[in-house]
Formats: sequence, C-alpha cells, structure tokens
Amino acid sequence: MNLTIESGIELNDGRFIPRLAFGTFDLADGDEVTAAVTCAIEAGYRHIDCARFYGNEKGVGAALAASGVPRDELFIASKVWNDRQIDGTVRESVEESLRDLQLDHLDLLLIHWPVAGKFAGTWRIFEQLREEGLVRSIGVSNFRVTHLRELMAGGNVAPALDQMEHHPYLQDAGTLAFCRENDIVYEAWSPLGRGGCLDDPVIGEIARAHGASPAQIIIAWHVQHGVIPLPRSKNPERIRANARMLVEPLTEAEMASINALDKGKPVIEGIDPANFAPYLNNLSSHL
Ligand SMILES: NC(=O)c1ccc[n+]([C@@H]2O[C@H](COP(=O)([O-])OP(=O)(O)OC[C@H]3O[C@@H](n4cnc5c(N)ncnc54)[C@H](OP(=O)(O)O)[C@@H]3O)[C@@H](O)[C@H]2O)c1
Repeated sequence: MNLTIESGIELNDGRFIPRLAFGTFDLADGDEVTAAVTCAIEAGYRHIDCARFYGNEKGVGAALAASGVPRDELFIASKVWNDRQIDGTVRESVEESLRDLQLDHLDLLLIHWPVAGKFAGTWRIFEQLREEGLVRSIGVSNFRVTHLRELMAGGNVAPALDQMEHHPYLQDAGTLAFCRENDIVYEAWSPLGRGGCLDDPVIGEIARAHGASPAQIIIAWHVQHGVIPLPRSKNPERIRANARMLVEPLTEAEMASINALDKGKPVIEGIDPANFAPYLNNLSSHL
C-alpha cells in the first residue's frame, strides 16, 4: 500500500484530507502547544486537529505562522463547543478560532458533540459558513448513527466526516459501517486509547514482528481500515515516530487480531454520545 504522511483521502465534497492528523488536546497554550505543533509540522504532519474547547488555539496559531509552510499545504480543523451551540454564538466561535489560529479560513469545522435540540441549527450555520468560504469542509464529532441520520434528514450538505473515539479497545463498528456506506470519512480520537492500548501484549508482539513501536502498529491499523487517526504527543521523538508509516503493511491476520481486542472500553468511563444529554452540563475537561 506504501502510505506516507502525505497520503490523503477524498472527502465527499471533493476536497482532500491527509490520512494522519496531529491532536492538540491537553497541550497547554503557549510554549507547550507551540513546540509540539512546530515539531509535528517539521516531522511532516500537515493536518492539525484543534478545538475551541482546548483553549490553546493561540499557541497553535503561533506555530502555524512561524512554520513557513504555505497555507494551501496545511489542513487545519477546529470544532465548536457545546456552550456555543446552546447560546447561539456558533459564528463568533469560528471567528475566534480563525483569529487565534491566524487564519482566514478553516479546512474543516466540526460540531464537537451532538447537543440535543441544537445541532440541527448549528449545522445550518455551518452550511452558511461553508458557503461564505470561512470553512472549506464541514463535519461532526461524537455523532452516532441516530444523530447522523437526523442531521442528514434535515441538512442540505452531508457531513464530510465524523470524528469518534476509536481505538483497539473501543471500536464502534456500527457507526464506522454507516459512515463507509454514506461516504463519510471516519476519524479516530484517542486513537492510542489515550496511551491505554500501548502495553497490550497482542500489539506488542505485532510490533516486535515489524520492528516498530506499539503506537506505530495502532496507527497503521487505523490507516489500513481507512480511518484517520489523530495521535497526540508532547514528546518530540514520539511525534516523529508516530508520523513514520510502516514499511510493510499489517497482514490480514494481524489486522484481525487487533480487531479482536475490542472491549467496548472508552477512555473516560460513562461518556457515551448515544446518551449525551445527562452529560451536557457537567462534561469534564477530558474531552
Ligand atoms: N472530538 C472529541 O471529542 C475528541 C476527544 C478527545 C480527543 N480528541 C482529539 O484526538 C486527539 C488524540 O486523542 P488523545 O489526545 O485523547 O489521546 P491519544 O492520542 O490516543 O494518546 C495520547 C497519549 O499517548 C501518549 N503517546 C503518544 N504517542 C506515544 C508513543 N509513541 N509512545 C508512547 N506514548 C505515546 C501521549 O503521551 P506523551 O505526550 O508523553 O507522548 C499521551 O499521553 C486529541 O489530541 C484531540 O485532538 C477529540
């Protein structure tokens, strides 16, 4: 298959998205996130996954501005958090992201969570922002099949992408299959299970066979499934290593043995998009 960090997938709106992204959750605004994103860009990542909620878009923007990489070679995503859907300041949230990221458009804008009674209205604003060119592609995050169906029934533009928690210990086969059938690209948040899948003995054995790290094996597993992983690290060596795709693809048997690790185990117990409403007012800062 010979994938590299430059490889991409075509979205259902005809635009191109890189097959690997760098995650920025939990990297402190200022030097920490700026150093991590700078290192990621130097390592070859062009797709950076941001969110207003992460509170660090200024630091990301500083890294983008200093990178010297032409804007059209970068793919920058951000998200609108729940409170902005509730108080109706979706457009303002996007303008704040653009200001902090020092950009005049986003390549991808996502609804962070499917806030009941609000996400359809948020989507209409997303469609307008896309029309105006402030964002190029629009999509969602944490949308299960029921949310996707509701959105697609009411909207004019189909979501280009769904970003879901997905790793060897939590595989949402139903949402992934629905996305494949409906030409919606599937992205994996916490692709390494927030580090929790890295000590798995099955993954360790496959890693030894490939002379690779467990993280590289999990990233390859996502990519070979056509899923876009968003690994995050603040460690320069890991940032670089995570960007190196395997020379030899995983075999069918290796893919199957990682598929078999699913335990339905999320990184934060109890957070489930299917029953989102109870968490609306007390979502922790772990997302
Ligand atoms: N849409 C959503 O609701 C949502 C929710 C959560 C996350 N996300 C996105 O998904 C991204 C990734 O998820 P995540 O940050 O939760 O978790 P993750 O990428 O699965 O795991 C990150 C953890 O793994 C460690 N790590 C990374 N590479 C490693 C390696 N090669 N060897 C050993 N340890 C390694 C990191 O530690 P070090 O820093 O020490 O390397 C960090 O503790 C986020 O940054 C964010 O962009 C989206």
